Amino acid sequence: MARIITTLSTPLFFFFLFSLLSHQTISQPEHLTTFCNPSDNFTQTSSYEANRDLLLSSLRVSSSLGTYSNATVGRSPNTVHGMFLCRGDTTAASCSDCVQTATIEIATNCTLNKEAVIYYEECMVRYSNVSFFSVLEVRPSIVLYSLRSAPNSNTLNETLADKFNQLILNVSSSSLVPYFLEDQELVTQAEGSYKFESMVQCSPGLDRFNCTVCLRFALLRVSTCCGSPSSALIFTPKCLLRYQTSVLSSPPPLPPSSPPPLSLPPPPPSPALFLPPPGLSQPPPPPLVFTRPQSSGSFSNVIKGNQIFGRIAMTMAVLVFALVNL
Ligand SMILES: *[C@@H]1O[C@H](CO)[C@@H](O)[C@H](O)[C@H]1NC(C)=O
Ligand SMILES: *[C@@H]1O[C@H](CO)[C@@H](O)[C@H](O)[C@H]1NC(C)=O
Ligand SMILES: *[C@@H]1O[C@H](CO)[C@@H](O)[C@H](O)[C@H]1NC(C)=O
Ligand SMILES: *[C@@H]1O[C@H](CO)[C@@H](O)[C@H](O)[C@H]1NC(C)=O
Ligand SMILES: *[C@@H]1O[C@H](CO)[C@@H](O)[C@H](O)[C@H]1NC(C)=O
Ligand SMILES: *[C@@H]1O[C@H](CO)[C@@H](O)[C@H](O)[C@H]1NC(C)=O
Ligand SMILES: *[C@@H]1O[C@H](CO)[C@@H](O)[C@H](O)[C@H]1NC(C)=O
Repeated sequence: MARIITTLSTPLFFFFLFSLLSHQTISQPEHLTTFCNPSDNFTQTSSYEANRDLLLSSLRVSSSLGTYSNATVGRSPNTVHGMFLCRGDTTAASCSDCVQTATIEIATNCTLNKEAVIYYEECMVRYSNVSFFSVLEVRPSIVLYSLRSAPNSNTLNETLADKFNQLILNVSSSSLVPYFLEDQELVTQAEGSYKFESMVQCSPGLDRFNCTVCLRFALLRVSTCCGSPSSALIFTPKCLLRYQTSVLSSPPPLPPSSPPPLSLPPPPPSPALFLPPPGLSQPPPPPLVFTRPQSSGSFSNVIKGNQIFGRIAMTMAVLVFALVNL
C-alpha cells in the first residue's frame, strides 16, 4: 500500500511516471519513480537512440561488477552519458537485478526523451546528453517514509542531527570510494531505548565537499518532509540517506488498520529540472567501475526487518520533490 504526495511549487519540466509499490513482490526491485525530461526529445532510429541503447546495455554489463559505473557513448552531438548507482547495503545480486530492470524500464518509459532518471529502492539509473558526473544536483529527489511514528518522536530531530552529522563528517573525510557508511546504535533516552540504524552514500563523481553539501540537503529534507517517521529513505541524483528505528524489547505495534486511499497527483503541468550542468563534450574514456565496499553488514538485518515489518505490515508513503527551493 502506498500513498503518493507530490510537492510542486513552480513550473515543471518533468513528467512523472508513478508505479505503486504495492504491486511489486519483495524479491523484485521496488520502483519509486521515473522522471523523463519531455523538453528535449530525439527521433526514433536516430544515432542518439542507438547510443542510448548501447549505453544502457553497457551499464547492464557493468552492474555485475560493482555498485557504481558511468559510461559515455557516441560522438557529439549524439553523445550520451549515463550511470547507475546501487545502495551500498544491497547484495551484488540485487544490485545487478535492479540495474537490469531499471535500464529496461527507463528506455521503455522514456522512449524518446534525451534525458531521464529512474529511482528504485535499491538503485538508480540515469542518462543524459549532458555530462553530469561530477556536478552537484539535488533534484529531482524522492523520499520513501514510513507512516508509523518513530519511538521518542519528539526528540527524533535531535537524534537525526546527532547521528547523521557524524556519519556525514566521517563519510566525506574518509577516503572511501564510493562514499558509503552505515551505522547501528542504541539510542537511550528517558522515554525509552531503541535501535537506530543509518546509512549515507554519495555518488563517486562528487568531491568530498559536494558530498557533504548533498547529504546535508538530504538530511534537512528528511527532517522536515513528513513528521517523525520510524524509517525513511531519500534518493537525490547524487546522494542517498536512510535510517530505520526499531524498539527492541517490545513486539512491533499492529499496523494501521487500513491505509488511506491512494491519492494520485494531478497530471503534471510542468517541470523540475536537474541543476544546469556545464556543457562538456569529452572523448569517451573507458567506463569506470567501483567494486562493492566491504560493509559491516549491519544493514542487512535492517533490510530483513524492513521486509518483514516494513514492506508487508507497514504502510509506506512516497514523496516526490520535483522542484526544490533551497
Ligand atoms: C517530447 O515527447 C513527449 C512525449 O514523450 C511529449 O509530451 C513532449 O511534448 C515532447 N517534447 C517536445 C519538446 O517535443
Ligand atoms: C512503464 O510503462 C509501462 C507501459 O508503458 C507501464 O506498465 C509501467 O508501469 C511503467 N513503468 C514505470 C516504472 O513507470
Ligand atoms: C543537449 O540537448 C539539448 C536539447 O537538444 C541541447 O540544447 C544541448 O546543447 C545539448 N547538450 C549537449 C552537451 O549536447
Ligand atoms: C561542487 O559542485 C559544484 C557544482 O556542480 C562545482 O561547481 C564545484 O566545483 C564542486 N566542488 C566544490 C569544491 O565546490
Ligand atoms: C566517526 O568517526 C569517528 C572517528 O573515527 C568514530 O569514533 C565514530 O564512531 C564515527 N561515527 C560514525 C557514526 O561512524
Ligand atoms: C566517469 O566519471 C568520472 C568522474 O567521476 C569522469 O572523470 C569520467 O570521465 C567518467 N567516465 C566516463 C566513461 O564517462
Ligand atoms: C525538525 O526540525 C525542522 C527544522 O530544522 C522542523 O521544520 C521540523 O518541523 C522538525 N520536525 C519535528 C517533527 O519536530
